[in-house]
Amino acid sequence: MTTHRPFAAVILAAGKGTRMKSDVHKVLHPIAGRAMLDHLLGVVDGLGPSKKIVVVGSGREQVERLVDARAGEVVVQEQQLGTAHAVQQAEAALGGFDGDVLILYGDTPLVEAETMANMLARLNAPDSPAVVVVGFRPSDPMAYGRILARDDGTIEKMVEFKDATEEERAVDLCNSGLMAARAEDLFRLLGQVGNDNAAGEYYLPDIVMLAARAGRRSVVIEAQPWEMAGVNSRAELALVEAVWQRRRRLKAMADGVTLVAPDTVWFAHDTEIGRDCVVEPNVVFGPGVRIADGVTIRAFSHIEGADIATGAEIGPYARLRPGAEIGEKAKVGNFVEVKKARLGKGAKANHLSYIGDADVGAAANIGAGTITCNYDGFFKYPTKIGEGAFIGSNTALVAPVTVGKNAIVGAGSVVTRDVSDEALAVARGKQEERPGWAARFRSMMAAKKKAG
Ligand code: UD1
Ligand code: MG
Repeated sequence: MTTHRPFAAVILAAGKGTRMKSDVHKVLHPIAGRAMLDHLLGVVDGLGPSKKIVVVGSGREQVERLVDARAGEVVVQEQQLGTAHAVQQAEAALGGFDGDVLILYGDTPLVEAETMANMLARLNAPDSPAVVVVGFRPSDPMAYGRILARDDGTIEKMVEFKDATEEERAVDLCNSGLMAARAEDLFRLLGQVGNDNAAGEYYLPDIVMLAARAGRRSVVIEAQPWEMAGVNSRAELALVEAVWQRRRRLKAMADGVTLVAPDTVWFAHDTEIGRDCVVEPNVVFGPGVRIADGVTIRAFSHIEGADIATGAEIGPYARLRPGAEIGEKAKVGNFVEVKKARLGKGAKANHLSYIGDADVGAAANIGAGTITCNYDGFFKYPTKIGEGAFIGSNTALVAPVTVGKNAIVGAGSVVTRDVSDEALAVARGKQEERPGWAARFRSMMAAKKKAG
């Protein structure tokens, strides 16, 4: 998606975030496993910005790596003197940029590309408004700033809750804080903003009244309340997460995935899942999961960093960790953990196993309770299991070790040496039998007890 004129994004994130009660910068708290700020930068990037400036107060060093990685720039607002003052801090970094400026909040991460594109498009409509403001009508308008606008969207006044009359407070159209303006208009207007108000702050919304005084009209466009949901506390973080998850679940279902109990499935920001997959209740996806078509994920499975091929069956109660590659029609059953391991086509590990740093050939069968002993407390070692091999229950495979193609390992073995193709390996104590021993033992003990 491209807009007609070059634009820069200015993301405000200098607020103290006190209510988070956190040592982590507010905008780094994750939604669906990804920092709020990164969600926002990702959407902005999709629109092809010329520049991205993030305005922070304290904690510059925390956000810098993320912003650098996305080729943005961090600027510092030493004192939090208000939203207008915050935007002003970006002026030098914009270095005479003369396109459009999109003003976003780092703690309002759900804004969609479409809304941002609409803001820019509205700014460049034939009537050339000075400022485009995104308004919304929350179910509880609380202490949001209010927008007094005509039916055609022309803004007559913007007023902060603290400064508003009862009548103004009764207006339900609220200021989301998101705005768009041409750079030259914006910084000229910002230079005129004062702080003679209830909060003693430099209010960004004041640019709308300043533009009006110079004969320029500003307009409001409305967005859905969920999109404008901000994060000021852990409770609001959870609410925003819930909104994100609800939308992701709907998208999964629209894309042809059956979610048996949608509210209990948790996606990560980057989960990929194909058509005709079925996800049973209480499944959690961490980051880095790719699932092909026709896969069944059964209840209570936890999956991250895994690649799952067509027709595989996972769970119930399976745990796939980073580097798990599950082949076509393979099966990973209950209480099986797979880490950095490949299961070939049709391979099965159905019960109670740990498979780590391993390569399991096609159609191999891993018996219940099999453990790859991959770690000696210092290093990790690989296990290789050939195609069609059969590993008996309760086997410990002490890595590094290789079990050959079509080999069979007897149950209860501790395998420390390689097993050849087609061979049987049994590595456990030999079974002895003493005929009649149990009966003799019992009568001897019974006699002893009687005597005693
Ligand atoms: C602001 C708006 C209000 C709107 C509300 C929406 C103003 C004056 N008020 O109020 O109309 O309804 O957002 O959530 O704009 N920030 C800085 N530096 C500062 C102050 C704020 O970077 O000096 C950043 C914050 O980190 C945050 C955003 O600006 O991302 C909004 O700041 P906040 O203090 O939450 O503003 P509100 O008082 O809620
Ligand atoms: Mg706020």
